[in-house]
Amino acid sequence: LPGRRVWVEDRVDSTNALALRYLTCHEPPFVVLAEAQTAGRGRRGRHWVSPYGENLYFSQVIRIERSATQLQALSLVVGVAVLRTLRQLGVAGVGLKWPNDLLVEGKKIAGILLELSGDPADVCQVVIGVGINANMRAGSGIDQDWTSVCLETGRQVERSELAAALAVELEQVLRVHCEQGFAAFHGEWEASHAWQGREVRLISGVHEIGGTVLGVTIDGGLRLAGEGGEQVYSGGELSLRLQ
Ligand code: BTN
Repeated sequence: LPGRRVWVEDRVDSTNALALRYLTCHEPPFVVLAEAQTAGRGRRGRHWVSPYGENLYFSQVIRIERSATQLQALSLVVGVAVLRTLRQLGVAGVGLKWPNDLLVEGKKIAGILLELSGDPADVCQVVIGVGINANMRAGSGIDQDWTSVCLETGRQVERSELAAALAVELEQVLRVHCEQGFAAFHGEWEASHAWQGREVRLISGVHEIGGTVLGVTIDGGLRLAGEGGEQVYSGGELSLRLQ
């Protein structure tokens, strides 16, 4: 991968967790890849099923400033990089689900988990964790509809090529995001938004809000038209379902 230090591990607990541990002795940027994860982490404390040798388990660590204001948009921007990577591999019909799930016809093909180390008000390190279902054909213990690159394209993918393609796309979007902010991606994001205009329920813990998805703001917040008019929602702990 261009200009990156890369660790390719065998079985790890989680590439995100390992990347956070490596931060104590290595300078970012760097990438950690693994063949399998025994404790793969998903959003909202969920488990990410990570069978040996089948999928991509990728964590890239970068340093950013003023992360508190950038983090939400960053997570959407990473979604754009994964979207472009999947399209490049010939996966048709990929869409984004706010904040950063990648779906094909409602089935999850990839997920993103950002984790922070350092001071969010100052300079800090972000672990960009990306899991892409690459060659998985049968999944056990996955509690949602899913698909994989192989199932969608009918071809096995070379995971090293997938990792390299993702690293190149990530580098490009991170640079543009740094220079121009999320505004540069807003149009592309909404054009690929799987649930644009759909009736949804937004779930936060025990609370639920119903509404119509209007799109995303320039900060990466979700615009929802509900009973009380338009509201903007943000935050990593929220989850969206179709009505
Ligand atoms: C989600 O959609 O819930 C996010 C899933 C993120 C999974 C990836 S796999 C590589 C990296 N290491 C982890 O433990 N999680 C992320």
